Amino acid sequence: MHFLLLIVLCFCQTAFSQNATTQDDVAPANFDSPAVFQVTQPVDHSEGPMWDGRKNLLYFVDIHTGRVLSYNYDTKKVNFITLKGEVSSVIPAKKNENILVLGLDRSLVAVEWDGESEIKNQRTLTTVSQQFPQSRLNDGKADKQGRLWVGTMGYQNPLTRALAPNQGALYKVVKDTFISPKVEIAPVNISNGITWNKANDKMYYIDTPSRKVMEYTYDNEKGDISSPRVAVDVEKFASVAGFPDGMTVDQDDNLWIALYGGGSVIKANPVTGQLLQVVPIPARDVTSVMWGGPNLDILFVTTSRRSLTEDERKTSNAAGSVFAVTNLRTKGIPTHFVDIVDNARRANILAEILLNTSELFAPPASNDITSGQVQSTETSQSQSQNAVQAQDQNSQQRRNTERQEPPFWSAMINTIRNFF
Ligand SMILES: *[C@@H]1O[C@H](CO)[C@@H](O)[C@H](O)[C@H]1NC(C)=O
Ligand SMILES: *[C@@H]1O[C@H](CO)[C@@H](O)[C@H](O)[C@H]1NC(C)=O
Ligand SMILES: *[C@@H]1O[C@H](CO)[C@@H](O)[C@H](O)[C@H]1NC(C)=O
Repeated sequence: MHFLLLIVLCFCQTAFSQNATTQDDVAPANFDSPAVFQVTQPVDHSEGPMWDGRKNLLYFVDIHTGRVLSYNYDTKKVNFITLKGEVSSVIPAKKNENILVLGLDRSLVAVEWDGESEIKNQRTLTTVSQQFPQSRLNDGKADKQGRLWVGTMGYQNPLTRALAPNQGALYKVVKDTFISPKVEIAPVNISNGITWNKANDKMYYIDTPSRKVMEYTYDNEKGDISSPRVAVDVEKFASVAGFPDGMTVDQDDNLWIALYGGGSVIKANPVTGQLLQVVPIPARDVTSVMWGGPNLDILFVTTSRRSLTEDERKTSNAAGSVFAVTNLRTKGIPTHFVDIVDNARRANILAEILLNTSELFAPPASNDITSGQVQSTETSQSQSQNAVQAQDQNSQQRRNTERQEPPFWSAMINTIRNFF
């Protein structure tokens, strides 16, 4: 009897309430599932997202056009500056929000830019990896103490994607000795994502072709890494494709990893190595991730269209854009900024004095072409290939001398440092 009544009721509903019946075909709205928004126009290869909550700006780069862009969360406007070379990471200074430290080819440069108007000053701080002139800087991040960790990659043929192997390294750049960054991990192939857990006693690091995230024990006081182990092996996740690229951490110490070639961002637990979530992104080549927004609960995701064919670009016309993902039920921890330079102009003079002084104490060079201007990109470009090579050898020697740091030399540095 009841059963019959129910059937009649159902029939009535279908017959007299068309709207409701149509709605039955639609999956119930789940306002807790991730939502993906395109927030910028596409560029060639967006990378290196960096949130600065002091200004509500998301910085990112378009590597091969030399552009550093800023997305203003409040006005939704994008501004950019263009530098001469390939730009990789962009990290604002702790003590001056208008100073950005950038990777430009193999050099670290400090630029003075408010994120909106003209670039004011631009100074080269140091140049790394002299022995691999075709390599370039890639991802970088500041640790809690403001040290900069930044890596390089070997030359990659833009057409064949073939990579010169074992030409990369991960460097640590510290305020007092920023002119000679210390090699922390070498060799690597494509130095990429770097992040730390909330307690700052673990560092996570990606060498992209390995498809793994390595974990290091981290000494936050000294900035030393030790005891590497594989934390996440993307090879083991049958449901996802692609190579781990940029990476960040959330407040629960889980990792969020961009999958280049995998059209997604994944969430993984570095303690168990488990895959926790896959967030599809409407672009195949997902390059990096960063938490931002006033509450740090928006995951900004950069992507590339660089390796897509003409046809693929048509069907994937948002590729190259920055996306924002919401409703991820977690959030980031505050961004660390670099504490290496406070002032773009003065930083350069200090670097120059240090370089000039170190030359005074370096052993005699094997030939005359030294000039002490390795740190200037413009100068090395204008010199002949031979001169550049000779210079590389000399600077290698100089580097070796610097590493030994005789007491007199240390005293000299300290004296100079006191002036600044
Ligand atoms: C429901 O149906 C009525 C009458 O057919 C129509 O006017 C109305 O727009 C519909 N509402 C929705 C939400 O589709
Ligand atoms: C870099 O790639 C080459 C070629 O695939 C490989 O033989 C080598 O082991 C890799 N180096 C590292 C440090 O993983
Ligand atoms: C460093 O040396 C170069 C070349 O000798 C010179 O032009 C420059 O003025 C020196 N810089 C400083 C700060 O002394």
